Amino acid sequence: MDFDAAAYRERIRLAADALRAASPVVPEAAIVLGSGLGPLADAIGEPSVLPYDRIPGFPKATVPGHEGRFVFGRLAGRPVVAMQGRFHHYEGHDIHDVVLPVRVLSSIGVRTLVLTNAAGGMGPGMAPGCLMVIDDHIGLFADSPLRGANLDEFGPRFLDVTRAYDKNLADLAYAVGQSLDLPVHRGIYAYCKGPQFETPAEIRLLQALGASAAGMSTVPEAIAARHGGMRVLGVSCITNLAAGLSSKPLDHEEVLEVGRLAADGMIRMLTAVIGRMGGA
Ligand code: HPA
Repeated sequence: MDFDAAAYRERIRLAADALRAASPVVPEAAIVLGSGLGPLADAIGEPSVLPYDRIPGFPKATVPGHEGRFVFGRLAGRPVVAMQGRFHHYEGHDIHDVVLPVRVLSSIGVRTLVLTNAAGGMGPGMAPGCLMVIDDHIGLFADSPLRGANLDEFGPRFLDVTRAYDKNLADLAYAVGQSLDLPVHRGIYAYCKGPQFETPAEIRLLQALGASAAGMSTVPEAIAARHGGMRVLGVSCITNLAAGLSSKPLDHEEVLEVGRLAADGMIRMLTAVIGRMGGA
């Protein structure tokens, strides 16, 4: 069906009301937790939880390892909200549903979006267990969340994504990661539609294009966030070597397991970043 902008706006409005009711304080930052990174929400102090199924018009999360709720509270003393569970295009969600939470967060006044994900490493040094601060992305091959009638109240029809990821936040995250002695790199995230992992030939293609890691999320959300004028920090947890780069078969359980092991470093890094970041 064609994108129904009026119905979509109404869903954003209803969900925004539900979030405002759950948290009188506007979070300074929202953190979207990728596969296996859900435990990050446990680091949030004074938590208050809003399950997605209590939000009118919200999509339903279906992926194992993604819980499906907002956790409001404090990280490094600052008001934040974490999304435990996100929506992926490969689950069958419409691309506008994938970014509905970002639209809602943007409408309630959240100015900074931190997107985390699990990704397969293909660039130099991108070994399982390391973190990658995202400098840029390749998303050419997938549907845009801005497709259809433009939501003028958020941003322009033709969005400039020269700097999709905020340079100051990326520099800060990388510096913090290094100072904590974490295995941290910077690189380019290639958005792959999934849900199948890539073929070795696809990975060779992406390497030739300059990609450092492949994953199945983040890019639509980053685009919608920029459209709404939010600043974006993206951090990948490299959970496996991308297809063809190791003799082991790829498997979601391994992605979750490595994600869990790396979650601690990710938590320490993001807590320090949130504590040190300036206003928007
Ligand atoms: N490819 C795509 N998405 C992923 C991968 C991968 O190798 N690992 C974790 N998410």
